[in-house]
Amino acid sequence: MNALSLANLDRVIALLLPDNQASKRVVEKANLHYQKQVHIFSLDALYYSIVQGQDTITASSVSVAMVSEEVEYRDEVELPRNQVINLYCQCGWSSADKPDALLLALSNSQTVVSAWHQNSLIGLGNAISDKALVVYYSHLLVLPSYRNMGIGREIMKRLQSHYTDFHQQILLAIDSAAPFYEKLGFKYSHGVRAMWIYDGRDIDAAQKH
Ligand SMILES: CC(C)(COP(=O)(O)OP(=O)(O)OC[C@H]1O[C@@H](n2cnc3c(N)ncnc32)[C@H](O)[C@@H]1OP(=O)(O)O)[C@@H](O)C(=O)NCCC(=O)NCCS
Repeated sequence: MNALSLANLDRVIALLLPDNQASKRVVEKANLHYQKQVHIFSLDALYYSIVQGQDTITASSVSVAMVSEEVEYRDEVELPRNQVINLYCQCGWSSADKPDALLLALSNSQTVVSAWHQNSLIGLGNAISDKALVVYYSHLLVLPSYRNMGIGREIMKRLQSHYTDFHQQILLAIDSAAPFYEKLGFKYSHGVRAMWIYDGRDIDAAQKH
């Protein structure tokens, strides 16, 4: 989301007094970025802008960097119910249909890493383990608007840090997520087939998109 998409305009500019840090933060959050110093109405000012098709790439990378800096990671297994349900619903995961079981599953997990931005839950991953040889990473999801910012990778890094010497680290990757896990070092299990009994509806839905 940026100022252009909000206002449906080709160009948005902002003129700021140079020492107004609060306004700088607001315009940068709207993906405007600094262009030059100007002198207008007898005042020195900073000129910020975003122009459709020109500044968007630079501005969005600024925005990604800002969000990444602000993301906080937590490791409690007890999480607020409404935030969890919202995350799972927005990601289209059918376990949101079983909220009591979902909250219990997370709190029974050995490890949960959650990602927060401005007090909103934006991603989480969990691990179930025999505490010696085998760990299974059962859930990993990041809100759609926060993807491709390194949050999924960071959640996995923090989860895996508990299981570095384990004999098996296992997960089931949906097709579209498999390249992500390959980047983290997971490999296809040749000679071994993943098998399951599944009571959800989201995997078929994911394959249709
Ligand atoms: C899969 C998912 C968790 C990835 O989280 P993310 O925060 O977007 O991923 P990151 O930004 O940390 O990506 C890390 C790297 O993987 C790449 N990547 C991320 N998702 C990818 C995908 N679906 N396909 C290919 N590469 C992907 C990124 O480009 C990045 O590459 P880089 O290091 O070369 O820049 C997220 O897309 C998601 O929640 N998807 C829906 C739920 C899901 O599929 N969960 C997995 C269940 S099996």
